[in-house]
Amino acid sequence: MQEIIKQLQQKREQAYLGGGQSRIDKQHAKGKLTARERISLFVDDGSFEEIDMYKSHRCTEFGMDEQNIPGDGVIIGHGTVYGKTVFVYSQDFTVFGGSLSETHAQKICKLLDMAMKMGAPVIGINDSGGARIQEGVDSLAGYAEVFQRNVLASGVVPQISMIMGPCAGGAVYSPAITDFIFMVCDTSYMFVTGPDVVKTVTHEIVTQEELGGATTHTSKSGVADHAFENDVEALIQLRKFISYLPSNNRTNDNAVVCNDPVDRDIPALDVLVPDNPNLPYDIKHVIEKIVDDADFFELMSDHAKNIVIGFARMAGKTVGVVANQPMVLAGCLDIQASIKAARFVRFCDAFNIPLLTLVDVPGFLPGTSQEYGGIIKHGAKLLFAYAEATVPKVTVITRKAYGGAYDVMSSKHLRGDFNYAWPTAEIAVMGPKGAVEIIFRQDMNDEKLIENRTEEYRQKFANPFVASSRGFVDDVIMPHGTRRRVCQALKLLEAKQLENPWKKHGNMPL
Ligand code: HXC
Repeated sequence: MQEIIKQLQQKREQAYLGGGQSRIDKQHAKGKLTARERISLFVDDGSFEEIDMYKSHRCTEFGMDEQNIPGDGVIIGHGTVYGKTVFVYSQDFTVFGGSLSETHAQKICKLLDMAMKMGAPVIGINDSGGARIQEGVDSLAGYAEVFQRNVLASGVVPQISMIMGPCAGGAVYSPAITDFIFMVCDTSYMFVTGPDVVKTVTHEIVTQEELGGATTHTSKSGVADHAFENDVEALIQLRKFISYLPSNNRTNDNAVVCNDPVDRDIPALDVLVPDNPNLPYDIKHVIEKIVDDADFFELMSDHAKNIVIGFARMAGKTVGVVANQPMVLAGCLDIQASIKAARFVRFCDAFNIPLLTLVDVPGFLPGTSQEYGGIIKHGAKLLFAYAEATVPKVTVITRKAYGGAYDVMSSKHLRGDFNYAWPTAEIAVMGPKGAVEIIFRQDMNDEKLIENRTEEYRQKFANPFVASSRGFVDDVIMPHGTRRRVCQALKLLEAKQLENPWKKHGNMPL
């Protein structure tokens, strides 16, 4: 017995070493943690239980039969984060560059299957040279098996991809299917083909960082939701992020104790909106003042900044916040903003997270670049997402709610549950100036008349009272009482029951 225990100990020690000390040192020299170090930083102390530690590849080509490292380049298992179960896989770059073999893929699939059975989130830590070149099509098959499971798990358990090294080729498509992608600055990159192929095909000369680094994907492409400075910060923030999410689509186990009074008045909000409707203000100040403890986990903060999305808590329970940002493009909806918010709304709806929508939107951004880029279809994504959502929806119009964008931003007509407006709200087809320029075009030379007409239009429509007289706004509320009113509404809506008609699935404008 003693001998067997000793053998087990030796096997474990060998597995813990992965690709060996020199490769571990290389990993550290790049400023990266190893696969196991990452897991132990992420999960609650001592909670990780590894599965398939000794699983090894079956490839015999290219001398692979002589190189068999236990675990085959990926660590899988389960642990807890703030006491709740999570399933984690972490690719080990020290073993064949973390490349994905048939058995490596089988391990990830096993983990996804377990997470689905147990109803717990899956976190994939990606650090891999892609398909295991020695294995050819077996590796490609392995990827597809993972993709299939990612798709079936979508909307059932939260899936999060942490990119902490290379992620190239078809390997990017598993993260792309998952709900959120986080990256680490300077050490992670994602692209379909690397700079060398790009040079051959398009003659573009571009670095890895420019092509697919964290800055590129958090600002330009919008592929990643957030970037962190280093591995340690990323994993600590990932713990916090997970705490906002339910374990699966059938539980609501993400509430925390709230010490911030739900009826807290916020006098600063009464003077936040400038008298001049053309002057901006920062909607993030409104969010931070309303939510519990001013704690807002913003996502995609450098991409489509004209809309703000992220998680916060109200009375201890997670809400998804969507807010137009008057500081950027006057808060207009454009292609990128519509896509950004639509995907977020759908995540919240899939996982029963109530939506708090703050509206200050002068409309859709006009112009050829938007029309040629398909704003009609992309804008409709957000409309579709809000209209389809059955979760509690609370909307507060702080200022402008013009045109089609008024309809889109969780309006009463899209089954908004509680739609409030501040007294500063202007709910109309368009701004007074634009409206008068169209309907009184023949009088444009008469400056005085136009001025009077503009004022008349402003008096009539640039306020929340016409909409409230129709019942499109449930109440015009004092800005200082916003937190109290939203918390009350959300409390009431805990009993909300609403189902869409049965269908295989809708056909949203992709
Ligand atoms: C097998 C691999 C590997 C791979 C790296 N290694 N990538 N082994 N298959 N795909 C091994 C190396 O041989 C090396 O082994 C170790 O990992 C570290 O690699 P280095 O090159 O020394 O590291 P670095 O300089 O940091 O460069 C990392 C890298 C580079 C940029 C990822 O290794 C690279 O370009 N790899 C190939 C990437 C690629 O083309 N993959 C296939 C993509 S196509 P030793 O023994 O020296 O430590 C694809 C299709 C998927 O993925 C389709 C799905 C649908």
